[in-house]
Amino acid sequence: MKSILRGIGSYVPEKILDNKELSLKVETSDDWIRTRTGIRERRIAASDQPTSELALNAARKAIEAAQIQTDQIDLVIVATITPDMAFPSTACILQHKLGLGKVACFDLEAACSGFLYSLDVADGMLASGRYKCALVIGAEKMSSILDWEDRTTCVLFGDGAGAAIIMTEGVGPNLVGFRSGADGSNPSLLHQPAGGSKQPASIASIENREHFLKMNGKEIFKSAVRVMEKATRELLKANGLETQDVDHVIPHQANVRIVESMAQRLEIPLEKFFCNLDRHGNTSAASIPIAFDEACQRGLFRKGEIGVLVAFGAGLTWSATLIRF
Ligand code: ACO
Repeated sequence: MKSILRGIGSYVPEKILDNKELSLKVETSDDWIRTRTGIRERRIAASDQPTSELALNAARKAIEAAQIQTDQIDLVIVATITPDMAFPSTACILQHKLGLGKVACFDLEAACSGFLYSLDVADGMLASGRYKCALVIGAEKMSSILDWEDRTTCVLFGDGAGAAIIMTEGVGPNLVGFRSGADGSNPSLLHQPAGGSKQPASIASIENREHFLKMNGKEIFKSAVRVMEKATRELLKANGLETQDVDHVIPHQANVRIVESMAQRLEIPLEKFFCNLDRHGNTSAASIPIAFDEACQRGLFRKGEIGVLVAFGAGLTWSATLIRF
């Protein structure tokens, strides 16, 4: 039984924050951000738009694209590191907003790899035969956990959501392989130190700005290239394919230099990599479904072609999905 991607949709908030406007908030420049990352602008959600609202807009588009009724959905997975609140899950909040039945709902936390981890999990749950139609979403309001006084991180991220309907019946690209992994040995490479059970919110944690995202950019950069190359090679090998067989790669949209290094190491031409990070920055778990949706809208995929979706994120986590269009 194969998982079929029946429909995809995405949503980004209206507000555009470009590098020039950002350079009025922190000491940076359009030139620095563009040459070091490739990012020109990012979207920022309104104060009354929590992650579930971004997810709701993307989900509606995916449902419409899949041409299904909402009562067919029997599983909702929301990948996010910026849930509306610690609990209940954003998936449960979304269930009510979408007017779904009392179906299984949960959040999945694998940072930027979250959407691909969720596809892996949804594929397994659909294969069990106990679920028929999964709504899988990557949604993030990264602006809510950024330190707008830290130029080394706040320039990199943006807000948005992407959603997919996955079923085992019907017509659409087939999800034919998955490869997910993690290395939890150094969590402080990329983390949000306070607000959890280890360091609950306190006056000191707020004063020390520990509710914001902290990152060792250089180390993350090196790991990102290494793990995405490894995940892609292992995924292809497990499915009897070579890198030359790949027609399209949709990588996690963090930094164009990461994408270039990866293309070089895999010896896959850069033209086969889809990038939209110049307009969105890194939207974490939303990055791959937003990019995938935009590539679909542009009509980039032909029937029978092979695609690889590959991501890395805090944890460190990584995940890759093989698609036959
Ligand atoms: N504007 C101007 N100068 C800056 C800025 C900025 N926004 N940020 C840093 N600098 C300065 C630094 O202070 C440093 O100055 P110094 O030499 O005087 O000390 C200089 O620029 C160079 O800084 P580096 O950190 O060496 O810059 P680098 O080339 O490594 O680029 C970057 C930094 C863009 C963060 C890069 O390391 C990167 O992209 N890393 C990967 C990050 C990533 O992908 N994170 C997402 C993970 S996914 C998830 O799960 C959320």
